[in-house]
Amino acid sequence: MGEILLKVKDLNKAFGKVVTARDLNFEIEAGVLTSIIGPNGAGKSTLINVLTGLLPLDSGHILFKGEDITGLPTYQRVRRGLCRSFQVVNVFPELSVFENVEIPVLAQMKKAGHIFRPVVKEKAVAQQVMEILERTNLAGEAAVIASALSHGDQRLLEVGIALAAKPSLLFLDEPTAGMNPVERVDILKHIRRISASGETTFVIVEHDMDIVFSLSDRVMVLNRGDIICDGGPDHVKGDKQVRECYLGEEVVA
Ligand SMILES: Nc1ncnc2c1ncn2[C@@H]1O[C@H](COP(=O)(O)OP(=O)(O)OP(=O)(O)O)[C@@H](O)[C@H]1O
Ligand SMILES: [Mg+2]
Repeated sequence: MGEILLKVKDLNKAFGKVVTARDLNFEIEAGVLTSIIGPNGAGKSTLINVLTGLLPLDSGHILFKGEDITGLPTYQRVRRGLCRSFQVVNVFPELSVFENVEIPVLAQMKKAGHIFRPVVKEKAVAQQVMEILERTNLAGEAAVIASALSHGDQRLLEVGIALAAKPSLLFLDEPTAGMNPVERVDILKHIRRISASGETTFVIVEHDMDIVFSLSDRVMVLNRGDIICDGGPDHVKGDKQVRECYLGEEVVA
């Protein structure tokens, strides 16, 4: 068993009559690549927003590495290693791939209070940036302007930007949105590889079921604010309720 990174207790969240989280209780364990799936409007993005502090919850508790972070603002959660990416692409299009990662690396160093002589600092930054670009398979594109990257590489760059904050838990909201199936498999294989290196645990929201079931260790199915199934891919794939509510169309077709 890995360390329990996140513990969610009796979490409730609603927008008026639309319930997006109903008495949710679950844990996220280090090293377990988890996918959150569910129909459109199930509450997946809202859950990530609540867990990362972008939206307030109605009731419940969120513990990160044993500490109650329920009331903490986002930046305080980021500082503790709880990070996220967004459903839409978020890179500086006019900056190079290197510069896009350099900015958060510099910010992280500043936060960590490192004091370097300028020359040493420059080297240390460059080394960290290149390390991240290698992990995200973008080292060859370091000098390329971000807007010139393929959509898939832009999403990988986003992952790189997020990794610069050295997260122990990273939520990715639809990292493959807008990609073709080949690109999807590709980016998720990279995520799987980065995840296997152990420093960062990933929780992803993904719509492509084939990819979800082939690459995840654990799948959580959210439907109208309820977790209707939670377990290994084979367990979830065979679950009657999941097939009915969510996979129904595919199974019928
Ligand atoms: N800021 C908001 N104000 C009011 N209602 C909201 C807000 N954000 C989301 N909702 C509603 O909450 C429900 C859940 O939305 P959410 O975006 O979390 O779903 P999702 O599972 O991420 O869906 P998708 O797969 O389409 O991204 C939806 O009915 C949505 O309309
Ligand atoms: Mg969403």
